[in-house]
Amino acid sequence: MKLFVTGGAGFIGSNFVHYMLDADPAVEIVNFDALTYAGNLENLAAVEKHPRYTFIKGDISQLADVKTVFEARKFDAIVNFAAESHVDRSLHFGAGEFIETNILGTQILLDAARYYKTPRYLQVSTDEVYGSLGQQGKFTEASPVQPNNPYAATKAGADFMVRAAHKSYGLDTVITRCSNNFGPRQFPEKLIPLMIANALENKPLPVYGDGRHVRDWIYVLDHCQGIDTVLRKGKPGEIYNLGGLHDVPNIDVVRLILKYLNKPESLIQYVKDRPGHDRRYAIDTSKIQGELGWKPRLVFEDALRSTVEWYLANRPWWERIRSGEYQKYYATLYAQR
Ligand code: NAD
Ligand code: DAU
Repeated sequence: MKLFVTGGAGFIGSNFVHYMLDADPAVEIVNFDALTYAGNLENLAAVEKHPRYTFIKGDISQLADVKTVFEARKFDAIVNFAAESHVDRSLHFGAGEFIETNILGTQILLDAARYYKTPRYLQVSTDEVYGSLGQQGKFTEASPVQPNNPYAATKAGADFMVRAAHKSYGLDTVITRCSNNFGPRQFPEKLIPLMIANALENKPLPVYGDGRHVRDWIYVLDHCQGIDTVLRKGKPGEIYNLGGLHDVPNIDVVRLILKYLNKPESLIQYVKDRPGHDRRYAIDTSKIQGELGWKPRLVFEDALRSTVEWYLANRPWWERIRSGEYQKYYATLYAQR
């Protein structure tokens, strides 16, 4: 199976590349990534010379970049991870790049799939397109799409373009909508790696609002395995929700990280809330469990502990990231909070 994987130098994409190369000797991967601030070739150092792996630098929102690759190679499937993925950036720095990559980029890939007759297209989407839950219930695939921040709106826009390509042209598409991932190599702008890194440097841990916002945490390898399952067995035109079946308030996650690191809770600092902050996410995974037999395997506490250990063992990885442009990013976003 020849895969055109986009965004494979980022967090989930790089975990997917490693996972797929290990899981199936018949898989060949071309990883196409623009190497934005979030793309890091260090994430792929171990497979750099792998005989079934090729890296190509390119931008999914540039037709010429995509065309060059598809003119030269044939693929069995496109798996689109590439995205501007951080909600706070979409809120503070504007939605332009989010629209270009997440919507226009998706459309260019769909056109490539159609024109070059790629048999399957998988869109890596997010539970965030559903907006926020009240006190009760879980997101199902039939929940209304009600995105509340610019990032989520662009992911929803992309999902609609995927739907349209399936309905209008009969393209074989599948969409996965997963909850919050955590694990090795996550860029330290997201909650879990940011809190681990700050705690290790004895810096304040900035918890937005009252800290009672709920996220459904899934270990990244469970997500990768779910994508593999949908890629092989998902029905054309369908959407599949994935989640970790572990929905907890942010403050509980932060306290657990401090406990694992043996750091004091006095490091916690409640700060101004994120605008339009979704209160609660929780995923109903019964469709993918019932139809495709996938369910998350990892126990949250064990997976979080091993993630904390990864950040402890790979300090140079995140220290390098946090020493550059990141300083400016952090000052801009967190100074006013
Ligand atoms: P990430 O920000 O860590 O990585 C994104 C990758 O995409 C980077 O390697 C970046 O260089 C690349 N990229 C960005 N713009 C590009 C472009 N125009 N062309 C080519 N490459 C480009 O993101 P992530 O957290 O790994 O998320 C991956 C995907 O999974 C995204 O589509 C995201 O919406 C989705 N998702 C993420 C989560 C989560 O919790 N992180 C949950 C559900 C879904
Ligand atoms: O649900 C899936 C989504 O999960 C993905 O689509 C996104 O790409 C991914 O970034 C993530 O979005 P969130 O906004 O939920 O993740 P983030 O890690 O930014 O925040 C998680 C929660 O923690 C959220 O309620 C905001 C809060 N938070 C976050 C940061 C960075 C804090 O309290 N303090 C922080 O400093």
